[in-house]
Amino acid sequence: GSRYRLIIVANRLPVSATRGPDGSWSLRDSVSGLVAGLRGAEKNYDVTWVGWPGMHVTSDADKSTLGEALNGRRYHPVYLDENLVELYYNGYCNSVLWQLFHYVTLPLETRLDGTQTMKHQWNAYMTANVKFAEEVLRVYREGDIVWCHDYHLMLLPSLLKERVPGMKLGWFLHTPFPSSEIYRTLPQREAVLRGVLSADLVGFHTYDYARHFVSACTRILGLEGTPEGVEDRGSATRVAAFPIGIDPEHFTSALNKPEVRKQIDVLKTRFAGKKVMLGVDRLDPIKGIPQKLLAFEKFLLERPQWRDQVLLVQIAVPTRTHVAEYQKLRSLVHEIVGRINGRFGTIGSVPIHHLDREMGIDELCALYAVTDVALITSLRDGMNLVSYEFVAAQIDQKGVLVLSEFAGAAQSLGAGAILVNPWNIGEMALAIEDALSMPEKEKTERHRNNMNHIKTHTSAAWADNFISELNDTHVEAELRR
Ligand code: UDP
Ligand code: G6P
Repeated sequence: GSRYRLIIVANRLPVSATRGPDGSWSLRDSVSGLVAGLRGAEKNYDVTWVGWPGMHVTSDADKSTLGEALNGRRYHPVYLDENLVELYYNGYCNSVLWQLFHYVTLPLETRLDGTQTMKHQWNAYMTANVKFAEEVLRVYREGDIVWCHDYHLMLLPSLLKERVPGMKLGWFLHTPFPSSEIYRTLPQREAVLRGVLSADLVGFHTYDYARHFVSACTRILGLEGTPEGVEDRGSATRVAAFPIGIDPEHFTSALNKPEVRKQIDVLKTRFAGKKVMLGVDRLDPIKGIPQKLLAFEKFLLERPQWRDQVLLVQIAVPTRTHVAEYQKLRSLVHEIVGRINGRFGTIGSVPIHHLDREMGIDELCALYAVTDVALITSLRDGMNLVSYEFVAAQIDQKGVLVLSEFAGAAQSLGAGAILVNPWNIGEMALAIEDALSMPEKEKTERHRNNMNHIKTHTSAAWADNFISELNDTHVEAELRR
């Protein structure tokens, strides 16, 4: 049948470019829940992407060879120079908005320097959003659906609507939207909200995030909140919750691939006789990795009978490595891992296997499959798809999910997971023990609950729901115009 043309705009393309020693480009898959979720949209739509390729590209020759490689996959690069990346990406996006949206208030230094730094960052944020708008307008054809994503591009809806008022335009946030009491500390709070409100439809992972957004609009902009969204003198923006999901079949079928089976056997031999616990996170302050390690340490300290019975594999994918908070976190995590391994390790083994690298999806799938207990300890997290993927890969094992109540996923997997407060180290140590010693019957029951949810809330359904709501909203908006 005829498929809608859909332009997806996100800061980072689904592939990031790196340069080989011989100067040639290679493209590797970008690691994020955003990309994992949007792959589901590619099933039912004719998708074009606009985004940053993740690298500084200066010469025209390079831009043309990389551009060719990307265009072949219908990816349209937005090139950002080094200074812009520093101020826009490392600065306003990841030191200001990312922090604030995860309830980390802005550091005092930001305020003490007379907000000069933040002013430059904000200017860069505006400039970058204009660059994205230009590229979208280059590929846009009348009738296309434009779907903008995440906190990097909150001014994009207004920039696009100014140029094409009739554009069918949605925006979705992959992070939490915080309580308006937190949000209102943002110096540019009005402009950011106004930028987003130009979209026809604004989506969030959970009902709470949507409600927080509507409150911010009513309290800060004085607009009217309605059950459908926000109204501003006759013009309306629809606001709703669309919880993202995964493609569970991708994982269930990966488990039957010969290379994955082989990897599972290798891991089973290596970990024989021990219970395996697993953490998989970008090395991000919001993931609560130090809290997770401290809980594991407390568990080993207070329950010596478990010491040589269990190990923790922690995959910590390097991310935003130029941002100071992320650099500090890396040292802190290494310090704690070193201490715990020094304290509880033996000549033959260490309790924590910590890896500072990313894994391919098949390798990850094998790891999920041999895991007895997954530990997701986010201090705040938009959704957290690792928890979904872990469940999908537990067909045989029925492993247990220990999940932070501060991840969006806690609202969907609450019946199957053991929910914890990651700030309560003692409670988490107890949850680890409960998970490790859970009877088979209870494990099976909990897994069934989780699996039911992820099978019925897939990434493809998420994208379909958002797009069909956008279509309906747009029809109404055009009638009003
Ligand atoms: N991921 C990956 N390789 C890794 C670690 C993670 O491909 O080594 C993927 C993982 O499969 C998941 C995504 O990265 O799809 C992480 O999404 P999540 O929603 O959990 O967190 P985010 O990174 O978006 O904050
Ligand atoms: C989160 C954000 C995404 C982002 C990803 C990876 O999932 O919601 O927008 O792409 O983290 O972070 P990075 O800064 O490497 O793109």
